[in-house]
Amino acid sequence: MRVDPWWVPSLLTFLGLSAFLIYATWASFQNEHYTFGNYLSPMYSPELFGNSPHAWFGPAPSWFPSFYSPAIVVLMLPGNFRITCYYYRGAYYKAFWADPPGCAVGEPRKSYLGEQSFPLIVQNIHRYFLYVALLFLTFLVYDVYRALWFVNPATGAEEFGLGLGTLVLLLNVLLLSGYTLGCHSLRHLIGGRKDSLSESPVAKSCYDCASAFNRRHMNWAWTSLFGVVFADLYVRMCSMGIWSDWRIF
Ligand code: FES
Repeated sequence: MRVDPWWVPSLLTFLGLSAFLIYATWASFQNEHYTFGNYLSPMYSPELFGNSPHAWFGPAPSWFPSFYSPAIVVLMLPGNFRITCYYYRGAYYKAFWADPPGCAVGEPRKSYLGEQSFPLIVQNIHRYFLYVALLFLTFLVYDVYRALWFVNPATGAEEFGLGLGTLVLLLNVLLLSGYTLGCHSLRHLIGGRKDSLSESPVAKSCYDCASAFNRRHMNWAWTSLFGVVFADLYVRMCSMGIWSDWRIF
């Protein structure tokens, strides 16, 4: 029997993920205060249909359900990339349904709920959500570019600039890139599936790069999770007039 405080990481995981889920669900269905000028919250990007100038196709059609929020797209696609992540699976299997509660700790059940059968075999869809996540990353890069262009209130023309919000959105993209580029599926895709990687120097370099990110995958997972929350919070607080964006130049 383990006598060390093995339950501490699981408890922290439980609290951290619960806090994120509560905030993300609340923020996603607010359907307001997700833009501030040229800033767009990453929880709402891409805004396919919506009421802000960032919306790709304008307002949502009248036949959309009343609970529609542009953030639903992000919840369903990048959200599932995270839920099916190999790191998070290991973390929430322990923290949320004690399967097992910790390494070398007995389970409170007799049957083994593995990933070889339904429903957990569905987690193998992670490799496909990777493609979606890479696509969404490009949208966020574009949002950072848009966050460099401010409307001059005097002339109405757009001018190049830098605000604290631009840096917050940039940091979010960097953290998400570190997380996505260290994905186990990406690592397999670019080199792990080859028998003799040393014969493909380009693939080997990419594989080594992905491996470097992968070694800290847990750290990237957590920092990028809270990076998204902070970026949304920053845009939201500025939009509500509670925080003021600092225009650096
Ligand atoms: Fe974590 Fe793919 S394994 S993002």
